[in-house]
Order: sequence, then structure tokens, then C-alpha cells
Amino acid sequence: KHHNVLHLVTCVPAGRLSAGPGAPAGRGRAPPGQHAAYEHILVERRGEGERVTLIQLNRPKSLNALCSPLMSELLEVVHQAEQDPAVGAIVLTGNEKAFAAGADIKEMQDKRFADVYRGSFLAFWGGVAQCTKPVVAAVNGYALGGGCELAMMCDVIYAGEKARFGQPEIALGTIPGAGGTQRLTRAVGKSKAMEMCLTGDMIDAQTAERA
Ligand code: HXC
Repeated sequence: KHHNVLHLVTCVPAGRLSAGPGAPAGRGRAPPGQHAAYEHILVERRGEGERVTLIQLNRPKSLNALCSPLMSELLEVVHQAEQDPAVGAIVLTGNEKAFAAGADIKEMQDKRFADVYRGSFLAFWGGVAQCTKPVVAAVNGYALGGGCELAMMCDVIYAGEKARFGQPEIALGTIPGAGGTQRLTRAVGKSKAMEMCLTGDMIDAQTAERA
């Protein structure tokens, strides 16, 4: 194993993480057995033997806010990749400005406690963490709230120089309810996790790697 893979967060030079100018402009070629007609994500096969399923979050106008339809599409592709013996690993990425700026606030704002409790709100996101194949998050730009939590559900985080991690839910009067209170603590330690959750302050890629 490459040494870097042992770190939770590994910094890599800018430019290596976004799909970039060389990436296909439209929907990627559909992997065998998959259809490419997704509304909120782009999916393609990359790498040697095309054994990597690359999923790019694609709601740039909303900084890739993780609305339920996006997450349903994402989980569908993760499950398909998991079943497909030709796939060895999954890479999840966003763009230079945002990996994902969080769960979709506009979708959540009218929900009451009873709604989210009875409906196990966001519980299905956990399918990313439960995936039996390695899932790599390639993060640049904002990874906030649910975006940070989604990155932490992955097995490895490669962070570009523009990456910013944060759990700003406190500013909305809620908590990192998609696993962030637990995963962030395991990733960066209790003190830094408490500081991030209680202030909502972001940290950059270097700080995240050190932590
Ligand atoms: C919905 C979002 C969004 C989000 C950004 N946008 N974040 N929409 N949900 N989480 C939208 C904005 O409304 C805006 O759309 C467009 O994206 C661009 O955002 P701007 O704010 O204009 O960009 P900028 O000034 O560059 O600021 C970037 C930012 C800021 C600092 C990341 O957008 C921000 O603070 N966003 C919210 C981050 C956040 O609170 N995340 C946690 C969400 S709660 P329009 O249409 O206005 O142009 C969460 C909880 C999970 O994830 C668990 C709960 C139990």
C-alpha cells in the first residue's frame, strides 16, 4: 500500500483533484450495465482496465448541495459498482469550488424534529460508508456540513490545496447529524472536533492532514 493511503487526509497539488479541463463535458460513458442519465452526478469509468468508477457531484450552482435526489443517484451508483466485479474502487469528487457545501438547506429548512426522527433522515447516506469496495474522496473547495460528513464516510480523503473542511451546522441551529459528531472525532481527535462543531470554523487541507 502506498504510504499516503494510511493518512485520513492527504494533501495533493492543486489541479490533480478536479475532473479538470480534460474531463468529458457532458455525461460520461456509462459503465457496463449502468445508465448515464443522472441529473445530479456524472459517472464514468477511469484508470487502468477502467476499474475505477468516478462519480462527480454535479450541482455547481448550489455548490453541490446534497439534495435527496443527488444522494439517491449517488447511492444507486455506489451499489451498482459494489455489485460489478469489473470495478475495483470508487472515486467521489466535486469541482474546484466545492466538493459539497452540505446537505441541501433549502430542502431541509421546513423539517421538524419529528419528521427527521420518524423518517430516519439522511440514514441512507450511510451506504457510502458500508460499501465493501474502497471509496476515495477527492476533495477540493468546500467540504462543509454533510459534505464533510460524506467525505469522512469514504475510506481515504485526498485533499487539494483549495480544500476547506468544516461542520458549520451550529450556525443553522442543528448538529452534524449525518455522522460528523462521531467520524470527525475519530478523524481529528476530540478537541479539534469539538472546536470545529462548536465554532463552525473551517480548516484547510494542511491543518486537516496534520490533525
Ligand atoms: C443549499 C446551498 C448550500 C447548501 C450553498 N448553497 N450551500 N444551497 N444548501 N448547503 C447555494 C447558495 O444558496 C447559493 O445559491 C449558491 O449555493 C452559492 O452560494 P453562495 O453562498 O453565494 O457562495 P459563496 O458566497 O461563495 O459562499 C460559499 C459558502 C456558503 C461559504 C460555502 O454558500 C455557505 O455558507 N453555505 C452553507 C454551508 C452550510 O451551512 N453547510 C451545512 C448545511 S447543513 P443561490 O441560489 O442563492 O445563488 C448540513 C446538515 C447535515 O449539511 C445534517 C443535519 C442534521
